[in-house]
Amino acid sequence: MANSDSGPAIPLSVVILAAGEGKRMKSALPKVLQPLAGRPLLAHVIDTARSLQPAAIHVVYGHGGERVREALAREQVQWTLQAQQLGTGHAVLQAVPKVPDDHVVLILYGDVPLLSRQTLLDLLAVAGPRQVALLTMIVSDPAGYGRIVRDGQGKVQRIVEQKDASAEERGIRECNTGVLAAPAGLLRHWLEGLKADNSQREYYLTDVIAMAVKAGVAVNPVACADPVDALGVNDKVQLAFLESVCRHRAARELMLAGVTVADPARIDVRGRVTHGKDVFIDINVVMEGTVKLGDRVRIGPGCVIRDAQIGDDTQVLPHCVIEGAVIGPGCNIGPFARFRPTSTLSAGVHIGNFVEVKNSTMADGSKANHLSYVGDAQVGARVNIGAGTIIANYDGANKHRTVIEDDVHTGSNSVLVAPITIGAGATVAAGSTVANQVPAGKLTIARARQTTIESWTRPTKQKK
Ligand code: UD1
Ligand code: CA
Repeated sequence: MANSDSGPAIPLSVVILAAGEGKRMKSALPKVLQPLAGRPLLAHVIDTARSLQPAAIHVVYGHGGERVREALAREQVQWTLQAQQLGTGHAVLQAVPKVPDDHVVLILYGDVPLLSRQTLLDLLAVAGPRQVALLTMIVSDPAGYGRIVRDGQGKVQRIVEQKDASAEERGIRECNTGVLAAPAGLLRHWLEGLKADNSQREYYLTDVIAMAVKAGVAVNPVACADPVDALGVNDKVQLAFLESVCRHRAARELMLAGVTVADPARIDVRGRVTHGKDVFIDINVVMEGTVKLGDRVRIGPGCVIRDAQIGDDTQVLPHCVIEGAVIGPGCNIGPFARFRPTSTLSAGVHIGNFVEVKNSTMADGSKANHLSYVGDAQVGARVNIGAGTIIANYDGANKHRTVIEDDVHTGSNSVLVAPITIGAGATVAAGSTVANQVPAGKLTIARARQTTIESWTRPTKQKK
């Protein structure tokens, strides 16, 4: 909702411009789909727009059209095609007829992803039925931006694009961020009157500022507190810079919330991390999706953790890849362990080096310490999966389940051919390949018997 000076709040509609090609990205992927902190640029903008609870969010798309819509199909937005990119004013004009005249329209850019909710609320606070709010920024190098031209009393008069600016105007350091909020009916009227009589032969959205002034509608500039927030992405250099901003902000948030981060420059959070107290995260850790860390969790260097939950006091040693796992409290994971979706470990489970766990459950105190594959298995409590044990879950066509009951020990290098149940307390001898049910409480051996050939002599090299 936007505010007028007096009277009730005015309904808000957001228009996001996302039709540009982004030539300078030199990529087959449309610019607004380039990922920042693990999500498309446009998704960040839609999120921020949604946080304002508008009546509607309109996205103007063009380049990479269907791909953009498909990638963001789950977003609750209205799509408007701008078939030809004739300028920012033309782009807004494609969507604005869909907005009721009594709304305030907030215009955002699909490639300006870091604007905060608060900045936009500050802007909307000075928009109204006869007020245009304009987000500006003061920058040391204004090259490329539209400049804000004020009159003798400091009132905003118009915006002049760099390419159309006089030498004197180019010296202005107060620039247009591109973001503005205006009454929908008047905006539509002004946009319909735009002319492309400028150096780029484009319909400039920025020309509506002079039209507002002419119509006696107040133009209220709001300076963006941190110009970094208003930065756009045009090339991979700027994309990497914004990524570093995201990285820094995420690390800072974690640290202020009590997490010890070994080096805030070497942690990547591309999603949402929640955590308990006294968590430690070593260098070069990447966290994606939704990650939940309990109290006193320690994550070693070089781990990649995606959509996972890690219980209190669990240690993850260096270089583990954990995806789609729920790991209980007091577990020891790694180094060099890999979890594929989806696994659940109870308390005190140990998963050691070069062990892969997939779609399995493991109950309290079970261990797979070395070089194993645990796939499609239900593992009981206190099981010891010996070094090199492989669960052969796949027959070349279908996957089958394995049940390993409590207190089972499998010897080194055993192969458990699924579907199979290993009874409680059973021991499978080292080197066995078991394909039939293994009875509880007994030793089962399934390997060739050891024999010694008494008469054998080692061949010797024949003399020529
Ligand atoms: C625009 C502003 C400039 C401002 C700058 C801030 C105008 C005329 N100029 O310039 O004052 O300082 O942004 O970054 O508005 N787009 C469409 N359809 C089009 C043209 C553009 O959807 O036909 C979209 C682009 O995808 C992009 C945004 O509008 O998201 C801005 O377009 P761009 O061409 O980059 O404008 P600038 O020249 O940077
Ligand atoms: Ca731009």
